[in-house]
Amino acid sequence: MLNFNRSNDRVLVLSLIAFSFLFPFAMKAQSSALIRYLPERKLWVVESDRTTYVVGVNEQGQLQNIYWGKKLGRDEDLQAAHTRPEHASFDSSETMSSLEYPGWGGRLYTEPCLKVTLADGDRDLVLKYDSYEIQGDTLKLRTRDIQYDLIVTLIYKVFPHEDIIRKSSQVENRTAQAVTLESAQSGVWYVAPGDGYRLTYLTGRWAGENQISQVAIHPGKVVLESRRGNTSHQLNPWFALDEGGKADETHGRVWFGGVAWSGNWKLVVEQTPAQQVRVVGGYNDFDFAYPLKPGESLDTPGYYGGFTGAGFGEASRLMHHLVTDELLPDHSTPHPRPVLYNSWEATTFDVNESGQEMLADKAAKLGVELFVMDDGWFGKRNDDHAGLGDWFVNPQKFPRGLKGLIDHVNGLGMKFGLWFEPEMINPDSDLYRMHPDWAMNFPGRPRELGRNQLVLNMARDDVKDYIFGVLDKMLNENHIEFIKWDMNRHFGEPGWAEVPPAEQKEIWVKYTKNVYEIIDRLRARHPHLEIESCSGGGGRMDLGILTRVDEVWTSDNTDAFDRLRIQEGLSLAYPPQVMMDWVTDVPNINGRTTPLKFRFLVAMQGAFGIGSNLNRWTDQDFDLARQMIAYYKSIRETVQLGNLYRLLSPREGEVTANEYVSRDAKHAVVFAFLHSQQFLYPPPTVYLRGLDPAAVYQVKRIDGKLTDPQETLSGAYLMNHGLNFILEGDFDSTSVALERVK
Ligand code: DGJ
Repeated sequence: MLNFNRSNDRVLVLSLIAFSFLFPFAMKAQSSALIRYLPERKLWVVESDRTTYVVGVNEQGQLQNIYWGKKLGRDEDLQAAHTRPEHASFDSSETMSSLEYPGWGGRLYTEPCLKVTLADGDRDLVLKYDSYEIQGDTLKLRTRDIQYDLIVTLIYKVFPHEDIIRKSSQVENRTAQAVTLESAQSGVWYVAPGDGYRLTYLTGRWAGENQISQVAIHPGKVVLESRRGNTSHQLNPWFALDEGGKADETHGRVWFGGVAWSGNWKLVVEQTPAQQVRVVGGYNDFDFAYPLKPGESLDTPGYYGGFTGAGFGEASRLMHHLVTDELLPDHSTPHPRPVLYNSWEATTFDVNESGQEMLADKAAKLGVELFVMDDGWFGKRNDDHAGLGDWFVNPQKFPRGLKGLIDHVNGLGMKFGLWFEPEMINPDSDLYRMHPDWAMNFPGRPRELGRNQLVLNMARDDVKDYIFGVLDKMLNENHIEFIKWDMNRHFGEPGWAEVPPAEQKEIWVKYTKNVYEIIDRLRARHPHLEIESCSGGGGRMDLGILTRVDEVWTSDNTDAFDRLRIQEGLSLAYPPQVMMDWVTDVPNINGRTTPLKFRFLVAMQGAFGIGSNLNRWTDQDFDLARQMIAYYKSIRETVQLGNLYRLLSPREGEVTANEYVSRDAKHAVVFAFLHSQQFLYPPPTVYLRGLDPAAVYQVKRIDGKLTDPQETLSGAYLMNHGLNFILEGDFDSTSVALERVK
């Protein structure tokens, strides 16, 4: 560990020069470190396999961003940080310079990273560099206000193989007075200065999550945020900026990233008068006030950022690898998710032991590995008006408790999973009758219902401990190996009358921290538990929850055609391994009917499940399902843990095609979908990517829809000549698997 302050720099320079003469090889090793300090220029260089990030101390003693992009490699080329001069009196030097973590103070007019009010009324904050520390893949840069003992440590962790850096900050109040943080951001990313950037982001709504939106960036700001208490369906905390709006799936410089936070978050994309394009991210500062007493501190969420010169496809794969290999609870031994059955669309609230056993018998025969009973099993839960909060098995529906059903499911060779909505309470519940004050509210004011329910104030430690206790008890008393953790409304009237008024706005941060804590404690006590994050579909999907759960429920919209776009959008930021997709019955949520095979193949592009009412299936449906599930099991490792190539987008033509290639390029699988048939045109050629051109692959067909009859094909043929499919009629579909034989 190194730890120097500015006065040590001269000693450090001299000793490094002497050291380099004596031990030239040792210096070489030093320069290949992931993070290095160049003392004579006061620069820190953070390197990943293909990128370089540089930050330095300018002549004002402030941290300034120098570079973020393709790998540079030669430290001699780097210049020390210098502030830019002011532009007339109207744009100050701090507004013109790319400050690495600007406090709101002096003459800063761009979006700050930190804004404070001290108890004595002072609101001016100017952070200057103090010291640093490098530990392996982590760099800490300590800054301090020019007057007060307000310490802000910027923490960078580099993920070298993913070309991604995680920034976060820690704000410590070492003054003798209280300080209120009014904006606490994790950091800011700067792309190369210039004009003409394009922002890509994910927007949507319930049943229409993760739609891809793109806007040109001009001077001014674009704000992406959630003020809803969780991540939200409406906007997802992920962004990508591409140079000149020119990048596509395979080409172009793309800077991308996301905030790892499942509460109120904010991303501000700003083009400044200096033509800097910067993205500030962290806690949403709307209705935000976080008081720090002397000695207290606040950590901001992780804010990930990455760069690639190879387009959106590579940007997505880097994000996928980050989640799969670095963040998910099983990241050290990634494994595919099991084939799941979920009862929701089949039985809704009408669950009971015999009905669920009948479904389980049928699911087991198909090859299902995990049987999940959804909503309806607890309290007086016969519809969505009652029961939330009463996490006790309903004795009318399950007179023998859950043991009989779980034993039955386990006896069929499947794991058993159960649905919970821990953060919610129905006014018609025993819990509410006992603790009406546990629901979030401003005393004496209305409590507006959403889906007939209120939000429990999870910021309260007594509520947190109670919810942890009931979940832990359920898991101790029953052999439950999977939880679907749902949240079916957003915050309303976020009051917290039990703490002093100055602390009440902490609810936004504490709520999410306590939800995280419950999940962390459950995982620690039940290490084999699998958890699915759901919020009325994909309303809680972000890099914060994905360090705690194994997968996310993608959307309540299970219509296979709509899913093509929802899944494409999700795949920009998150990996197929976490994208839970079910085959369900038709007509679907939007009245559309698609063939069962189309529904299977769409759902097989992520973590696969079935949500159909199997009591209504025909023998032919079961035959097809058995074949499809067997096929899925043969390709799921490639789909869930391989590299995704989006070949044809559902937004751009009549055919969608996706390809998944195992990391060693020995296995691949292609899916192709015709949306609707018009004028009998044949579908376009599908050019594969990511294969070894010199390798020979055996072609495995699931049907006769591939026009190329060869048994084997080279990687070069597959990528250069491409494949042609016969797709005819609305919602025709196919898949081809490839296995390297030479
Ligand atoms: C919303 C979820 O997204 C559905 O899958 C289902 O679990 C219902 N809630 C149950 O109320």
